[in-house]
Amino acid sequence: MTLFSTRGLVKQFGRLRATDEVSIEVAPNEVHALIGPNGAGKSTLVNLISGMLPADGGSIVLDGVDLTRMPPHKRVRAGLSRCFQVTNLFKGASVRSNLMLAVQSHRGSSFVPLGRRDGEAELAERAAALAARVGLGGELDRIAGSLPHGAQRQLDVALALAADPKLLLLDEPMAGMGPDESARMVELIQQLRRDMAILLIEHDMDAVFRLADRVSVLVYGKVLASGTAEQIKSHPEVQAVYLGSEAVA
Ligand SMILES: Nc1ncnc2c1ncn2[C@@H]1O[C@H](COP(=O)(O)OP(=O)(O)OP(=O)(O)O)[C@@H](O)[C@H]1O
Ligand SMILES: [Mg+2]
Repeated sequence: MTLFSTRGLVKQFGRLRATDEVSIEVAPNEVHALIGPNGAGKSTLVNLISGMLPADGGSIVLDGVDLTRMPPHKRVRAGLSRCFQVTNLFKGASVRSNLMLAVQSHRGSSFVPLGRRDGEAELAERAAALAARVGLGGELDRIAGSLPHGAQRQLDVALALAADPKLLLLDEPMAGMGPDESARMVELIQQLRRDMAILLIEHDMDAVFRLADRVSVLVYGKVLASGTAEQIKSHPEVQAVYLGSEAVA
C-alpha cells in the first residue's frame, strides 16, 4: 500500500536539473530515508514536496489527494508537515507558547483568540501533550532559545506534529547533534512512526540504517537506487558513488 508518492518530479534551475524525474513511494508507517552526496538535490526535493518550490513537471500525491499545485499551507492541512531545522521557533517565547501558537495556527474554523480563558486552557493542554510526546514535558516554561540544541530540534518536531500529519518530512534532524542527542532523536522517530509515515533526509548513516525501512539514494537529481538498508549497503554503484566501503561497515 502507498500513502505518499512522487511521480516523475522535475525541478530545473536554469540549465541545472536539480530534480530529474524523481519517483518515490512511502507506505503507511514507513520510515523512508533519502540519502545522497552534497548537492544531490535532497533539499530541493523536500522543498518541492512541501510546496516551497513549484515543480516543473511530475506529480505529488498524499493519501489519494493530488498536492502538486497546492500552496504549502494547504498541503499541511492535507496531512503533510515538515520540520524547519529550528528556524521556525520563537526563541524568546516559552516552549508552551510556541506550541500553543502552532496548535492555534492549525485550527482553521475553530480558531480561538488567545486571551479567551476556556480556549487558552484547551490550547495549553494540547501544547502540554505535544511537549510530552517529544520528551519536553518538563520544559514547558523554558524559553525556547535557552534549550540545548537537541531539545530545540525536539521542539521543532513537536511544532510539526501540531498539524497532526500523515507524513512528516524531516530534513537532517540530527545535524549538529552530539551522540546522546542523536540517540534521543532516533528514539523519538521510532515512536512517531507508530502514528505516521516519515520521509527522513539524514547524513548520519548509523541513524539512517537503524531507522529506515527503505532507503532511496539520490545522485545528480536522480534516484540511483531504492531498497532496504541491506540492499543499499551492498549496492555496488551506491558504494562507489556515495558511501565508500568504510562508511557502511
Ligand atoms: N534556488 C536555487 N537556484 C539555483 N540552483 C539551486 C537552487 N537550490 C539548489 N540549487 C542547486 O541544485 C542542486 C541541488 O541542491 P540541494 O540543496 O537540493 O542539494 P542537497 O542534496 O540538499 O545538498 P546538501 O547535502 O549539501 O544539503 C545543487 O547543485 C544546488 O547548487
Ligand atoms: Mg540539503
